[in-house]
Amino acid sequence: MADNQEIVSKTHVLVVSFPAQGHINPLIQFAKRLAFKGLKVTLLVFITNELHQIPSSSIRVETISFTPQTDNSNCIHGSFFKNLQDSVSANLPEFIAKQTKDGSPVSCIVYDSAMSWVLDIARELGVAGASFFTQSIAVCAIYYHLNEGKLKIPVEQPSVSLPGLPELDTYELPSFVYNTKDYPQVLSVLYSQFSNFREVDWIFFNTFNILEEEAMNWMRSLREIKAIGPTIPSVYIGKQLEDDKDYGCNLLKSNNDCIGWLNSKETGSVVFVSFGSAAALGEEQMTELAWGLKRSNTYFLWVVRETEEKKLPSNFVEETSEKGLVVQWCLQLEVLAHKAVGCFITHCGWNSTLEGLSLGVPMIAMPQWTDQSTNAKFIADVWKVGVRAKVDEKGLVSKEEVELCIKEIIVGEKGNEIRKNSDKWKKLAEEAVDTGGSSDKSIDEFVKELVNKSS
Ligand code: UDX
Repeated sequence: MADNQEIVSKTHVLVVSFPAQGHINPLIQFAKRLAFKGLKVTLLVFITNELHQIPSSSIRVETISFTPQTDNSNCIHGSFFKNLQDSVSANLPEFIAKQTKDGSPVSCIVYDSAMSWVLDIARELGVAGASFFTQSIAVCAIYYHLNEGKLKIPVEQPSVSLPGLPELDTYELPSFVYNTKDYPQVLSVLYSQFSNFREVDWIFFNTFNILEEEAMNWMRSLREIKAIGPTIPSVYIGKQLEDDKDYGCNLLKSNNDCIGWLNSKETGSVVFVSFGSAAALGEEQMTELAWGLKRSNTYFLWVVRETEEKKLPSNFVEETSEKGLVVQWCLQLEVLAHKAVGCFITHCGWNSTLEGLSLGVPMIAMPQWTDQSTNAKFIADVWKVGVRAKVDEKGLVSKEEVELCIKEIIVGEKGNEIRKNSDKWKKLAEEAVDTGGSSDKSIDEFVKELVNKSS
């Protein structure tokens, strides 16, 4: 056993993240879980701007800066992907050679599935490769069908029926499917996730077996995949790593005052509003949301990133200061885990979806783009842990609708049902990552397979 532990501790995994918050978070957490199993783990982030790091005792975090040749560092432009690929191709072989020189050769590269070409680099260097998908299996299955030509763009029928998935109305498909003009490069990156799907040594999904059972069974008919999520710091679920409180790498700085503010509020009385790291609401939508929060007469904590602040109605913060707090960024997990929070208005990014579900917070889904409309469908109709806010003929969620949804969750009859389901899913998420749970076992299997492969 001691010998085996020594072999495991010398097996070095390099985790390479895509430079966006919604990708760094699950990958850093997966890296920590691998380290918890005894592997030596380095997280490498190719980065365009500053990364605020909380040092981790279990993994090493390294960054390599690169400058995208675009007028901003937004990662949805084609040139961004190309610059990233150029930078990784230029730097990764040298980085790996240095690990060998330092006596810690890399046995496996775990890379974000949006960077599928990393496998070619791994193969050239004789290193094993594992692809980590940061979105749900359901959403990835839709991209798989598109890539295989089994679902055609533009989708002409009002709804689609795909194996392992519930019937989806067109607006419940990922936005790139019906809005192809805006980000064609993103769609091609999403297709490319499957370019070496069958060849790569391991495939990981940030989900858990029971959460997406049918979609997973279908995908497992194509090849073996491992569900290892939800990748949530274990002080909140699973409790394996006692001091693991935050993901640990933030592109934006947190405003921690909000925890003191939450401490003064009653259990379940606060609506938390957050649209993740990238979604940008239109000014009209911001206004409707703002006045909807005010009309609900409920306490609210709203994350409005610095770049979005100018869209708030000019007198809003002053007018609502007795009920609301607006912050530029917070430790979202700490907020969601706080007993004062009774409802989460979310854009349904996959991390936020998993966080709300795993911490048992009922959700109001306000999807904006990309995978979020499909996640919203699952929140409202499959797991039944929230409601989807209705969009009016102008494409907006009106202030009346915001008020209605909040009341439905906080005081309405439907809220009780949703809270029951939320508690159920919270327990199931916890079971999956706890010792011996399905996700924990998948990680154990990977460690065993990797060690066997490397020795
Ligand atoms: C995006 C996509 O929406 C997502 O579906 C995809 O899988 C990854 O890229 P993003 O839009 O940023 O991510 O949303 P989300 O997936 O929810 O990730 C945001 C992360 O930032 C979450 O882990 C959340 O906890 C964190 N966050 C958000 C904070 O820590 N503080 C905040 O104030 C807001």
